Amino acid sequence: MIALKTFQESLSEFSERFDDLAERYDHTINNCSELEILIDDYSKFITNERNEEAWEQLELQESSDLNQLVMDLRKKSALCVAIMEKYRALKLQDGNAEIADYFKNIESCIEEEFGSFQITSESKVLLVGSGSFPMTPLLIAKRTGAEVVGIDIDDEAIKLGRNVVKRLGSGLNIRLEKISVEDLDFTKDVTHIIFSSTVESKYDILDQLYALTNENVVVAMRYGNRLKSLFNYPLREVDEQRWKLVENIIRPDHVFDIALYKKV
Ligand SMILES: C[S@@+](CC[C@H](N)C(=O)[O-])C[C@H]1O[C@@H](n2cnc3c(N)ncnc32)[C@H](O)[C@@H]1O
Repeated sequence: MIALKTFQESLSEFSERFDDLAERYDHTINNCSELEILIDDYSKFITNERNEEAWEQLELQESSDLNQLVMDLRKKSALCVAIMEKYRALKLQDGNAEIADYFKNIESCIEEEFGSFQITSESKVLLVGSGSFPMTPLLIAKRTGAEVVGIDIDDEAIKLGRNVVKRLGSGLNIRLEKISVEDLDFTKDVTHIIFSSTVESKYDILDQLYALTNENVVVAMRYGNRLKSLFNYPLREVDEQRWKLVENIIRPDHVFDIALYKKV
């Protein structure tokens, strides 16, 4: 078992490394390797069973300082994952498309995303938080032929993301937009919705989507509880009159798990 003190020290150290590397992002690939190493280290840390017990002890402490550290880590790691996608997009522009372990981890899970509610060529898929390197839209469109729309709140992510789609997704039905779900005409026709795990307001958007979507829509909410909540926004209770949890896909070796919701 990892001692609680060592565990807490690791958290503080990760927090400092995230701050340092987020500050050093300058829209070039200058600090890319360092951030890749950090994200890989962090992914291993939060999927390491041996840290589970220390996490449980930490939860029992109910310390406001520790709570703050956990919330900060969630925010900082989300920011750094978004930056890492920017690096990957910038590297692709420069002709260097190697894949860090973190991306292999994400890519290998996309197939299981919708459990028993599989995507077909007729499906219309919306991804909330498409990022600068839109792997999910690319893989879905490539494998199924479905129409995919990705939305993001970050101008740079949309610009870089479109470039990636142009290079890797030629001929695929993928669109990336900086737009909200209520302003997007596509929302009313979507059959499948995926929420990126690091979208802080994902449950507020889910609530909003109830009135905007058709009755058969299925929602894949990426999330992380317990130790994984250091890297993901966790699962939340939903309005039982509106959404029903129909499947919970737990993936011990992956950085996030997936909850599937359908309308009641
Ligand atoms: C790490 S990235 C994408 C994750 C990864 N591509 C995937 O497939 O899971 C998460 C993105 O979510 C975006 N984001 C955060 N909050 C959002 C919101 N409320 N609406 C849309 N996008 C959001 C961020 O700007 C960031 O680009």
